[in-house]
Amino acid sequence: MKTIHIGLLGCGTVGTGVARILIQNQEMIRSRVGATLNLKRIADIDIDRDRGVLLGKDVLTTNADSVVTDPDIDIVIETIGGLGIAKTLILKAIANGKQVVTANKALLASEGNSLFRIAADKGVELAFEASVGGCMPVIKTLRESLVGNQIQAMSGILNGTCNYILSKITDDGDTFETALAKAQSKGFAEADPTLDVEGFDTAHKLAILTSLAYGADLCLDDIYVEGISKITPLDIEFAGQFGYKIKLLAISKNRGNAVEARVHPTMIPFDNLLSSVNGPLNAITITGDAVGDILLYGKGAGMMPTASAVVSDVVDIARNLLTGSVGRVPLLSYQKDHIHRIPVMPVDEIISHYYFRFAALDQPGVLSKISGILGNHCISLKSVHQKGRKSGGSVPLVMMTHLAKESNVQLALSEIVHLEVVSDMPALIRVEDSNGSD
Ligand code: HSE
Repeated sequence: MKTIHIGLLGCGTVGTGVARILIQNQEMIRSRVGATLNLKRIADIDIDRDRGVLLGKDVLTTNADSVVTDPDIDIVIETIGGLGIAKTLILKAIANGKQVVTANKALLASEGNSLFRIAADKGVELAFEASVGGCMPVIKTLRESLVGNQIQAMSGILNGTCNYILSKITDDGDTFETALAKAQSKGFAEADPTLDVEGFDTAHKLAILTSLAYGADLCLDDIYVEGISKITPLDIEFAGQFGYKIKLLAISKNRGNAVEARVHPTMIPFDNLLSSVNGPLNAITITGDAVGDILLYGKGAGMMPTASAVVSDVVDIARNLLTGSVGRVPLLSYQKDHIHRIPVMPVDEIISHYYFRFAALDQPGVLSKISGILGNHCISLKSVHQKGRKSGGSVPLVMMTHLAKESNVQLALSEIVHLEVVSDMPALIRVEDSNGSD
């Protein structure tokens, strides 16, 4: 039986999980692939730590170059992450004719199109299932299962850390800081957790999915990104009273000649399935013209779920090698000459429902001043709610709007903050109503 040799770059959390699956499930994988997948070399800066995986002598090395240039190795797996050495090693592996598997969402989001072109020109695969949504097979779903569909929209919870933090504040009354510390101790958070909480990790994943869905060569910097660090327990409480959960959503919509691609905290109604996705779990709804909505749900981070996605890519490539069909499925779903620049619609142009919370003086005429400005900017109110009474002091005044244009909303808020009756910056949260009703 043929043996396919594998080299692994980086043996941290995900790399260790990959080694564990390839070694512990080797027999089962052999019976599914029809070849032995042999983890020949692992490169890491630390080759002494006990990773709880039984590795043969000489498997571990500190010399990553020796892995990407090893003539025996067919498939190189990169689980180092980041934009530095990982990119250099991927390029070297491709130049040496290796098939490559990576989980590196930051690298693919910023430089994916050039890397995919280099890989395609060299005739090798560059697989990336683990870069988005951990174990959820979202890349394969978009690239293969939904290949006959025009993708109309995607809406996903793609960062386990943020979802965990929001769930802990909502369900257990944790503070933001306590919830973040717990997420870090559980190993979901990035080394730099601002990537999680400020929405950038989600934006990296959204960029990858948007490219796949529409054949778009889009600029990561054009994605509107707002994280969860300004979400307060008070807004979470109001959301609950109105029948909504607050989630950090990655939203992508096909607008014909442009796409919407944005990441921000979003209020979604309790009857939207995404509102029941709690803790570190991820989920995504994909809407296609033939299928309608489908929902994927699963662990978006962690050693074994992410390793499972990496191994699925390794097995796909092994099968392609065995059947001489490398390159059968285009890396970005579209043939490379059909990938084109698609503009991302500026956030100012989006139309949404909105939640506002003002800290407003509790006195006659305040409501009419605020609603007057909103009205002047064509913003129509669906409901208004004042919490408590405080003669001479300020109280939370909450408003939900009908559909409004973001640029009008921003103009109105910039006028409202200058009213003497309003203290503090208003809170603004966009609302996605599942039934789309106005
Ligand atoms: N930091 C990421 C998360 C890890 O919290 O979802 C998986 O990409």
